[in-house]
Amino acid sequence: MISPVSMLRFYVFISFMCLARADTGETCPSFTRLSFHSALVGTGLNVRLMLYTRRNVTCAQTINSSAFENLNVTKKTTFIVHGFRPTGSPPVWMEDLVKALLSVEDMNVVVVDWNRGATTVMYNHASSKTRKVATVLKEFIDQMLAKGASLDDIYMVGVSLGAHIAGFVGEMYHGRLGRITGLDPAGPLFNGKPPQDRLDPSDAQFVDVIHSDSDALGYKEPLGNIDFYPNGGLDQPGCPKTILGGFQYFKCDHQRSVYLYLSSLRESCTITAYPCDSYQDYRNGKCVSCGASQNQSCPLLGYYADNWKDYLREKDPPMTKAFFDTAEEKPFCMYHYFVDIITWNRNIRRGDITIKLRDKAGNTTESKINHEPTTFQKYHQVSLLARFNQDLEKVAAISLVFSTGSVIGPRYQLRILRMKLRSLAHPERPQLCRYDLVLMENVETVFQPILCPKLQM
Ligand SMILES: *[C@@H]1O[C@H](CO)[C@@H](O)[C@H](O)[C@H]1NC(C)=O
Ligand SMILES: *[C@@H]1O[C@H](CO)[C@@H](O)[C@H](O)[C@H]1NC(C)=O
Ligand SMILES: *[C@@H]1O[C@H](CO)[C@@H](O)[C@H](O)[C@H]1NC(C)=O
Ligand SMILES: *[C@@H]1O[C@H](CO)[C@@H](O)[C@H](O)[C@H]1NC(C)=O
Ligand SMILES: *[C@@H]1O[C@H](CO)[C@@H](O)[C@H](O)[C@H]1NC(C)=O
Repeated sequence: MISPVSMLRFYVFISFMCLARADTGETCPSFTRLSFHSALVGTGLNVRLMLYTRRNVTCAQTINSSAFENLNVTKKTTFIVHGFRPTGSPPVWMEDLVKALLSVEDMNVVVVDWNRGATTVMYNHASSKTRKVATVLKEFIDQMLAKGASLDDIYMVGVSLGAHIAGFVGEMYHGRLGRITGLDPAGPLFNGKPPQDRLDPSDAQFVDVIHSDSDALGYKEPLGNIDFYPNGGLDQPGCPKTILGGFQYFKCDHQRSVYLYLSSLRESCTITAYPCDSYQDYRNGKCVSCGASQNQSCPLLGYYADNWKDYLREKDPPMTKAFFDTAEEKPFCMYHYFVDIITWNRNIRRGDITIKLRDKAGNTTESKINHEPTTFQKYHQVSLLARFNQDLEKVAAISLVFSTGSVIGPRYQLRILRMKLRSLAHPERPQLCRYDLVLMENVETVFQPILCPKLQM
């Protein structure tokens, strides 16, 4: 007969065993998950630091200034700082970003989980906590330095509000932090603020920024040594244009900055950006030589942007804007070509050009150059910037369509003396030419290009 007392003991024992297992067991700490209810009532600030290393790519260790666990201070340490969380859910890209960073370099990745604080429907409440998060990070980094870490090896990737948090930390170290990457730094309540109240180029040895939603959630003006404006920085291809797109309508453009950065870590293609004063000038093909010498390659977006660090910091002021277009989905890369056209129509012609390339295997890729009508003037060469989703190595056929956009009235012809196609990403590839061609308006003209004669001016 089992007495009630021994029954009780048994239960206590079992409960104890369960607790003990939970304490030492296999469960990995994970990013704070809150409900929408928390967002409605608001949350008090609590900053958790979670360490990931190559030894533990999928399982975090909670660390703090007195418990470093596997954090090896002689290695590079990358902090990922998220932004405003209006629903309380963990950022969907966090796990991918951690893995991608660890896949390219043996480093410490520290996820700064301030979900308690960032979760609120009131953006200004989250924003008001950014200084406090920065102070917590400063305390932690101070301990790292005390243990022998170097500020040169500290890298912060800040998303939205997180970008300004990174800026505040950097400012407390007078710009000696190694690097800050701002992914669409938050605009509301920060636009127009003086440098000490936002991310700015003096916050780290190198500051690079991607602006993907600068007309809504993101910051408008440049904030770093280099500011990348994908597709002009306002609206991103593939994102919903209307509220019918649901929740994506609000965050897709903003989040694209993170996906572009991610793509720099894991895709085979690299996204090249073109330093330029405006998106318009970039689209018009005015900004394709990068840097001081023709020799210099153009800056790369994302993780490897710091290859350009020394050059960018020498400029006065040390700030550069860079533009590029992307595809709708990952890996986002586009391949830039110049289409040089010389015409001999007696009168000036204005219109758009659509160019299609095909290789022997039958792959095709198309570029519409229609952001503004091109002016073709007798014997003047115009250089059009064409952007393709695919990079066909050996082009077997080219097709061109000329269009003035008018549906009524006369159909025009464009008399081409010479057209030349040259790859910007691969200037060493042979340039392709075609001479004496007449394009009938809106009629596709297909031809086989020939190699351009060498040494042609
Ligand atoms: C991985 O992380 C878990 C959970 O924090 C920890 O218990 C374990 O010791 C770590 N493993 C290694 C190899 O560091
Ligand atoms: C730091 O973490 C250790 C181990 O998780 C914990 O025992 C300690 O209380 C923490 N210290 C602070 C100051 O939070
Ligand atoms: C810390 O990292 C350095 C450099 O990568 C390495 O030489 C050293 O063995 C590491 N220390 C530990 C305890 O893993
Ligand atoms: C161009 O780059 C190559 C290789 O990086 C270098 O050897 C050469 O000196 C450079 N030329 C100029 C004009 O800068
Ligand atoms: C072209 O097509 C072939 C066969 O369909 C395919 O294997 C290849 O990946 C394609 N190349 C490009 C650049 O898309």
